[in-house]
Order: sequence, then structure tokens, then C-alpha cells
Amino acid sequence: MLILGIESSCDDLSIALVESGRVLSNVTASQVQDHAPFGGVVPEIASRRHLESLEATLDRSLQIAGKNLGNIEGIAATYAPGLVGSLLVGLNFAKSLALALQRPFRGVHHIEGHLWSAFIEREPRFPIMALAVSGGHTHLFHISNFGSYRLLGHTVDDAAGEAFDKVAKRMGLPFPGGPAIEALARQGNPRAFEFAVPQVKGRPLHTSFSGMKTAALEYLSQTNEPAPADLAASFQYGVVRALLAVLRRALAQFPAAQLAVAGGVACNGPLREALAALATEHDVELVLPPPKYCTDNGAMIAYTGELYLKQGLSSPLHLNAQARQALGAPA
Ligand code: KG4
Ligand code: ZN
Repeated sequence: MLILGIESSCDDLSIALVESGRVLSNVTASQVQDHAPFGGVVPEIASRRHLESLEATLDRSLQIAGKNLGNIEGIAATYAPGLVGSLLVGLNFAKSLALALQRPFRGVHHIEGHLWSAFIEREPRFPIMALAVSGGHTHLFHISNFGSYRLLGHTVDDAAGEAFDKVAKRMGLPFPGGPAIEALARQGNPRAFEFAVPQVKGRPLHTSFSGMKTAALEYLSQTNEPAPADLAASFQYGVVRALLAVLRRALAQFPAAQLAVAGGVACNGPLREALAALATEHDVELVLPPPKYCTDNGAMIAYTGELYLKQGLSSPLHLNAQARQALGAPA
């Protein structure tokens, strides 16, 4: 099936065309410049920019794929979770298009999209241990089949990407913070500052990043002569160790043929290297999306939408946007 996918849950508007699991186009209108002066995403600016970029982004995506609106066989859009104003722009546009073209529509959960982004042009082998690690989530799932997600653990405070962003902001680094910290960390010593890996009492598969964030902010305020590269490298090393610790425990407890890690933080080079070593240690196949499908993108929404629509599982046109929604809720 030829599926049009729209992702607009935060500050990126991304529109993709996917046909039989193959990505024909994936065009993203980035708003990094608009939000950079504020050091974070301003919701009203995000939704207004989405409205302004919709037509040009759609046209470009169709052009790259060599398709026209009449060729589209199904339409998918992110419906939850995210900034409601932002979600409504993409969702409402997708539903209107489905109505006008008389094609089936599927609402996709943003995290489900991230999870399946790892399998674009890769075959899943179940069971899968899957970690979605982004600016809004640090959620660990055991996937026994498509659509069967067991939540094993999640962050009890900040998401890993959020911690990167907050520490970077305080260090005066550009937004988004993750790539900025990774770049600065290349010249730093990861053992210069100590970051203890937190363990959530009685919940071995949960994570917590607010303690590391606070420790970083304290180091910044205490040190007379802060060595930003050392702090960046040490903080990044702490986050990687914290993620590896829960994955190691989960892999010891649950069977897995594959280990999939997706979401913006999965772009991080040192994390990817550490995951490769972990996968070897546990004899599990590591599945990582290429960086272009780690951060928010329309391809993952079109891809996941196709998995549903090819089974005839469409969503009603009254499906609403939700700021928060557990994965697995009916869409
Ligand atoms: O998946 P995503 O684009 O949006 C959400 O769903 O949140 O993830 C964005 C997050 C931001 O917090 C950003 O700082 C982080 O992913 N990120 C990174 C890297 N690239 C993006 N974190 C660490 N290292 C990176 N290279
Ligand atoms: Zn995301």
C-alpha cells in the first residue's frame, strides 16, 4: 500500500510516503531556529509553524516520491502523545485528506512509531526488548508481537533527552541539547566528574535522570573554572551507564531475539557503541534506526500506519488528539 504519514507531535512537521515498507520520501520542516532563542519548544509557535509549513512539506514529499495525491491508498498521522496544538494540526489535516480522497485513516501512537522506526527495511524477530528514549520518553517494552507491548519500566522523572536538554541549556549550549553535549563531549574526559547511576527503589527496570541533572547543575555552580567538555563527557557517560544498567537487567530477566533502541537519544554515538557491546554480551541482535529515523519523522508514522492499514485496521475519523496516552489504547 502507498501510505502518507504525518508527524507533528512537537516542533518538527514531517511528511513521508512509504510503500510496502519502503520509504519513498521523508521531508521534515525543522523549527530549531524558531525555538533556539527560548532554549526549548514554545508550544504556540510550534503549532503555528506547522500550519504554515503543511502545504509545502506535502508537495515536496509527493514530488520526491514521484507520486500525486490520487496515488495515496491510506493516510496515517500521530494522534498522541505530544503537544495538543501541534498534534491537532497534523491529525486534522490527515483526517480531512482521508475524507476528501475517500481513503482509510489510521491514528498512530508516537512511541509505537518510534519503536517500529527501527524496523524500516529490517525484519523483526520476536520477542523484542525495545527502548524508546527521546525528549519525552524513556520507556522500556517487551514486545511479543506486533501490537503486543508490555511496559517493563519507565523514567520516574525526566526523560533522558529532557535531561540532556536541561543540562545543555544551563551550560549555554544550543538547543536541542543532546547533539550539542555529544559534540562537546568528544574533547572531554568522561571520568572527570562523578555521576552515580540511580536505582529506583523496588523498581529495577525504571530509570531516573533528575538526580544526574541536578548533580550536573551543582558541578556547574560550584566549579570556579568549569571544564565544559569534561562535564559534558561525564554527564553523557552517566546517562549511557544508566540506560545500559536497566537494559542489562531486563535482558537477564526476559527472553529477547532482538534489542531495539529508538528515539532522538538513540542518535548518540557513545550510546550506540555501548549498545553494540551489550548486544554481543547477551547474544541478541541489535536493531538501531539510522539517525534520520531516530528523531521525529513522518516515515515511522507512515510505516506503522501501513502495518495496521494492510490488516484493515483503520481508525474512526472522530479520533481525537491526546497530550498523554498509554501505548496500547485503542486508536
Ligand atoms: O525523538 P525526538 O526527536 O523527539 C521526542 O519525541 O522527544 O527526540 C528529541 C530528543 C531531544 O531531547 C534531543 O536532545 C535528543 O533527543 N537527542 C540526543 C541526540 N540527538 C537528539 N540526545 C543525545 N545525543 C544525541 N546525539
Ligand atoms: Zn519522538
